[in-house]
Amino acid sequence: MMGCLWSLFFENSGVDPDGSKKSGANCPSSAEIAHNGILEEKMENKKIILSGIQPSGSATLGSYLGAFRNWAALSNEYECLYMTVDMHAITTRQVPAQLRKNQLEQIAQFIACGIDPDENTLFIQSHVLAHAQLAWVLNCFTMFGELSRMAQFKDKSSKNAENINAGLFTYPTLQAADILLYGTDLVPVGADQKQHVELTRDIAVRFNGVFGDVFKIPEPYIPTVGAKIMDLQAPTKKMSKSEIADGGCILIMDKPEDIMRSFKRAVTDSETEVRFDQETKPGISNLMQIYSCATGKSFEEIEKEFSGRGYGEFKPCVGEAVVELLRPIREETERLLADKAYMQEVYKKGAEKASYIANKTLRKVYKKVGFIER
Ligand code: TYM
Repeated sequence: MMGCLWSLFFENSGVDPDGSKKSGANCPSSAEIAHNGILEEKMENKKIILSGIQPSGSATLGSYLGAFRNWAALSNEYECLYMTVDMHAITTRQVPAQLRKNQLEQIAQFIACGIDPDENTLFIQSHVLAHAQLAWVLNCFTMFGELSRMAQFKDKSSKNAENINAGLFTYPTLQAADILLYGTDLVPVGADQKQHVELTRDIAVRFNGVFGDVFKIPEPYIPTVGAKIMDLQAPTKKMSKSEIADGGCILIMDKPEDIMRSFKRAVTDSETEVRFDQETKPGISNLMQIYSCATGKSFEEIEKEFSGRGYGEFKPCVGEAVVELLRPIREETERLLADKAYMQEVYKKGAEKASYIANKTLRKVYKKVGFIER
């Protein structure tokens, strides 16, 4: 058994099974091999968490509150794998240089948010070949009707009418592969991704129904506050990195003065009372959610704090709280990005660790569906 595992590890790490080094590839040291053995053991003992973010833009306050913050909180207790999903990002057109920049920025942000790269696995999706390989198999276990019902597909295809490509349509099967490769227990995501995790469960159950207990069935893990941060200019729409033009979206890397300007201009309503009511006061309710996440105060405490003070006082206070929340993350991200060698070490080591586990699952799946071993 171990022989097979090691041959998988060798296949992706640049070393032939006989121990000779493939030219031009990185050879793992015995310490690295031991490290992957330790990872495997840890994954048997701890619950596994996996999540990802698209580098299709610079990460937003929504990505931070709905995802990164929770990823960091989970990272000390669980075995966590976090990735920047470049393969998902190219389902819409990207500028290549910007895509590369965004990926490095996101890896740096993971660390800046408090995720220790030595204790967790941080990687770039396309560096682990098994994601594309398993996605193909899962495409054959996913129904056209299921993919047609995905809200993200409907939304993105309405916004990209000139480029409704097959990748955009089969995007959720790649996401299912991301999750199922690692025996993931929990998938921390914002509310918008729940449907994709549910589809992942359906695909896994379908596959297991045919071939036995191959995949672990994952659960979505959605925060109670911050799961859906809305656009400051259009508070019934999710804050999104693809729509940053009009000041409705705050980026983690935004300068304090830009953040303050966006909060002062945030759309509210014709009343003056700071009160949580998503139906009639979506703008104020969104600001209250943001303020609550940034300060830890409950909605009742916020209502009391701003009672009789009006929106004119509330909006800059939210802005200041967000500036202070994001400042250390932005500064640490900038510091990390300046250290190119360290960044490269993090994502290379991450891909190596992830590949080792992912290949084990892929190998099992290939065998089950009837492929002949290479
Ligand atoms: P993406 O890149 O759109 O968003 C990354 C994470 O941030 C959350 N998020 C938000 N949460 C609250 N309010 C917002 N305004 C907001 N905007 C974004 C998202 O819910 C998500 O958790 N398909 C995924 C990426 C992905 C993935 C995976 C996630 C690919 N493979 C495997 C989990 C597991 C996506 O497009 O996320």
